[in-house]
Amino acid sequence: MGSTVLAAAMDELVARLAEVDPGKFPYAEVLKEFRRVGKHFVSKELLGALDAVRRRLAGRPTTQDRLLGRFLDCALDKWDGRYDYSTYVGLTLLPLPDGGDPWRALVRRDRLHLLLVTDALRFEIAAADGRTDALPRLRPTGRMLTKRCRLGNRAVGRELGHFHVADVEVATDPIGVSRQLCEAVMASASRDELRYLELSMLPVYVVHDEYLFIRVLQAFEATFALMAVQLSAVVRALAAGDGRGAVDALKAAETALRGAAPLFALLATMQVPAFRTFRQFTEGASAIQSENYKILEAFCRKPDPQRLESAAYGSVPEIRRRVMDGISNIDETLLAARASGRLTKPAGDEVATAMADFEAAIKLWRRTHHRLAVRMLGDRPGTGYTEGTRYLEHAIDVPVFLATGESEGRR
Ligand code: HEM
Repeated sequence: MGSTVLAAAMDELVARLAEVDPGKFPYAEVLKEFRRVGKHFVSKELLGALDAVRRRLAGRPTTQDRLLGRFLDCALDKWDGRYDYSTYVGLTLLPLPDGGDPWRALVRRDRLHLLLVTDALRFEIAAADGRTDALPRLRPTGRMLTKRCRLGNRAVGRELGHFHVADVEVATDPIGVSRQLCEAVMASASRDELRYLELSMLPVYVVHDEYLFIRVLQAFEATFALMAVQLSAVVRALAAGDGRGAVDALKAAETALRGAAPLFALLATMQVPAFRTFRQFTEGASAIQSENYKILEAFCRKPDPQRLESAAYGSVPEIRRRVMDGISNIDETLLAARASGRLTKPAGDEVATAMADFEAAIKLWRRTHHRLAVRMLGDRPGTGYTEGTRYLEHAIDVPVFLATGESEGRR
């Protein structure tokens, strides 16, 4: 499209926004423009018009308005000077597991994981077919498409059975399987699900691989949120002297984390030059700000004072405050349950074994994450203002629990 035509379309959109009823907000046009240039480069005129829409929303409490408010908070983060990990990844726009019953949280995570990964594959295939002009820079090769489809199919494997999606194993080549997967999953998606997938994709630039990066971060967040629910159930079970319940919930959290691990292999296909290009515009947004990751860590045990005073918890002030106020954690609750006799020695030992298994899964996650970061970043600093991979290297061996110290040697 010529630049005069584009400028006219933009003027028309800005003018429309000045009068639009928030209930009829033109999401599609706004998203198209954000994806045409990248969030970092959206024009001041459009951002100003969106800011005005946000002001008109004040005091309008309908569900639709609240959704629009959350969308605008993510879209206007750079304009407001509030840009961070949560707004970059659009966390408030996703139905993450958010407490309560661990079984419901698991169903929610599995569905979200399935939709996010499938949507990433859908974008890969649409780009290869020439059906989208979004994020056109540094498109991967055809061979890369095969690899991403294979790894993406593997990353959703477990969730498919769960939701009775039609048989997608008919095709034998990875791209064929992914095509069938996309068709089946997207056909099963509700309007709300399609909407949150659409709204939660606001890349900072126009490099193809950023789509995959954002979807993988979101999928991991869904798992961290689930694990936080499961670990809080472990604490409750231990407090009640229910060793079996604690073991089951620990095993469920371990399974959740191990089940999400194939996402790393998928993300490792990201092209290094592509990552280094778009990350120029992600400064200030880092998963070190992930509240879900830090809360699940704090449910295991109270972090050491040194870590609480470092960037690790300085980046999540709300979680740090909760930790300082005192969060019941697995380590202390286990010790108290054993000391009081609420948990017998054999039951306590079983819990300690499950904790050691969980710790091994966390450490594997940390090592894999570190390896990926080294590959993508080299020795560059992180976008969360740490020295980068050296920060991660130090964190690898930080004990997840102290109460299982004696079982460390076995792993
Ligand atoms: C290209 C891939 C990735 C690179 C290069 C990378 C790099 C980094 C770096 C350098 C840090 C240290 C903080 C900073 O300064 O930013 C960090 C922290 C972190 N990253 Fe990643 N990361 C990647 C992918 C991921 C993914 C997919 C997740 C999943 C959500 C993730 C989760 C985390 C978490 C939770 C932390 C905080 C760890 C802690 O405080 O101990 N990262 N990452």
